[in-house]
Amino acid sequence: MTEEQGVFIHPQRQINGDITVPGDKSISHRAALFGGMAKGNTHIMNFLPGQDCLSTLSCLKALGVNWERRESEVWIQGQGLENWTEPQDVLDVGNSGTTFRLMLGVLAGSPFASTFTGDESIRKRPMRRVTGPLLEMGVKVLGRQEGNFAPLTIQGGDLKGGVFKTPVASAQVKSAILLAGLRASGETWVIEPALSRDHTERMLRGFGVEVWSEGTQSRIIGGSKLTAQDVSVPGDISSAAFFLVLGSLMKKGELLIRKVGVNPTRTGILDVLLKMGADIQLENYAEICGEPRADLRVRPSELHGVEIQGEIIPRLIDEVPILAVAASLAKGETVIRDAAELRVKESDRISTVVEGLQALGADLEELPDGMRITGKTRLRGGRAKSHHDHRLAMSWTIAGLLSEEGVSLEGIEAAFVSFPSFLPLIEQVTHI
Ligand code: S3P
Repeated sequence: MTEEQGVFIHPQRQINGDITVPGDKSISHRAALFGGMAKGNTHIMNFLPGQDCLSTLSCLKALGVNWERRESEVWIQGQGLENWTEPQDVLDVGNSGTTFRLMLGVLAGSPFASTFTGDESIRKRPMRRVTGPLLEMGVKVLGRQEGNFAPLTIQGGDLKGGVFKTPVASAQVKSAILLAGLRASGETWVIEPALSRDHTERMLRGFGVEVWSEGTQSRIIGGSKLTAQDVSVPGDISSAAFFLVLGSLMKKGELLIRKVGVNPTRTGILDVLLKMGADIQLENYAEICGEPRADLRVRPSELHGVEIQGEIIPRLIDEVPILAVAASLAKGETVIRDAAELRVKESDRISTVVEGLQALGADLEELPDGMRITGKTRLRGGRAKSHHDHRLAMSWTIAGLLSEEGVSLEGIEAAFVSFPSFLPLIEQVTHI
């Protein structure tokens, strides 16, 4: 779908349902990538068939990795990373920062050139945070603004390990360095200012690689090879977040969201919603393929404002747009700080969220590293734009359902990046 699509979201007062959300985006990317790097057959269950993860699959194909996909199941015939071949054309990562940054790390040790590009948003996203450490390890990089922006080419080669202190907590940066470290001489360490999501470390262990980590430090020893594994992907808590907020703020009803990933590096949204007074229960906790999952039961409640800052930020960074919707309908003030990273996401999510919610009648102001939201406002409704940002498209849909007059939304198709079944699921639980 390329045309901008307009939809009108009518207000709703009741929610009911027993649903599953699609597979976790971060884990799906890694399962495909690691399956392609390993020797042997990897079967991925509940793979997210969203555009971002499909970009990872198509880059793998361009690098000589064979796979087959049927809806949310993927079979990869891994030949080992040393058998990847030079791509015949530019690698298109679409809108996917994870594809881009993780691939840079993986290809750093491959003795050929790879050129990357993507959509308008990806070409504005900073890559020096990855290409900087990779340069130190021994790759050659040529890209716009001294290797900071796509289109960007790397020439891989012999790498040396080292100790890398990253200036921001970013799982994409940490993962790229660790993946390059797999083929570097000696040890490669990453030290982060706060702990980012740890799916790479967990899944690499599942694929038989020794990764040491403690707190904000992780280390990998060069030379380890991956062994193929079957991977079952839990539901994406970042997708479940839209339904958690909707279920909390509806007047009536109850929603059960099954098999949601509850890795502690991702559950900041649960901690914050519970602190705001939400009624959310965790049931049927289990750990599968190194990743915890649980069913989440949510019922309506009165929410109140909270302060969100410091080490929790990387644990909820993708949920800030929907949390801002929740905060505008919660009593009192919510302040979000230490979240300047939002400015370099799929859109500048500090300004797009503040302007977008103001246009719907909410009372909030922009801060350099976050926002201040004063609730509880009347969310009147009105016109909204996704700015080609999937999380905005879905946040404005939830805002429309919770508004007084509804929302006319431009660009809902952006949701396909991470949640292709979003609108049908919304229809299912609200019975529109
Ligand atoms: C991701 C890491 C986060 C997150 C993104 C997915 C990942 O980005 O925002 O949606 O899969 O590693 P950063 O690593 O830049 O924080």
